[in-house]
Amino acid sequence: MKILMVCLGNICRSPLAEGILQHKAMEAGLDWQVDSAGTNGYHIGEAPHRLSQKVARLNGIDICSQKARLFTKDDMDKYDKIYALADDVLDEIRWIAKDRYKPEKVDLLLNELHPGKNLSVPDPWYGPEPGYHEAYQLIYAACDKIIQRAINDITNQ
Ligand code: 4NP
Repeated sequence: MKILMVCLGNICRSPLAEGILQHKAMEAGLDWQVDSAGTNGYHIGEAPHRLSQKVARLNGIDICSQKARLFTKDDMDKYDKIYALADDVLDEIRWIAKDRYKPEKVDLLLNELHPGKNLSVPDPWYGPEPGYHEAYQLIYAACDKIIQRAINDITNQ
C-alpha cells in the first residue's frame, strides 16, 4: 500500500501526516509506504518547518530528514491513495493531474474523521505554535481512523 499526503508547501501539514501515518502503520505491523508532496514549489528541497519538526518530536515522531517536493501527475499512478490536507489542495491536485486524475484514489484527509464534511486542516504556516499542535491533533485523529479501518479489514477477511 502506497499513500501520498499532499498540502501546499510540503513543509507544515503533509510532513506531519507522512510522519504520523508511517509511524502508526509500522506500529500496527502494516507494510505501508507513506510519502508527502506539495502543490506549490516555494520550498522544494527544504526540511519540514521547525515547528512541525518540534511538534512531531514532542510526540515521539522524527520528521527532520524529510525533504519538500512537488506533486506531479505521475504521482496519480504511483500511489494507491492520495490524501489532500485541504480543499484548495484538492483543486490543485485535480489541476496538476488533468486527464490522469483518478477521483477514486483521492480524498480529503479529514473525510476519514468526518465523512462527507469536506473539512480542511487549517494551515498553520501564517501563525504561532498552537496552530501546529492543532494541525497535529487533527491529522493524528484522521490517521488513527485509517489504521483502525485497515486493521478491521484484515481481521474481517
Ligand atoms: P503547508 O503550509 O501547505 O502546510 O506546507 C504552507 C507552507 C508554505 C506556504 C504555504 C503553506 N507558502 O506559501 O510558502
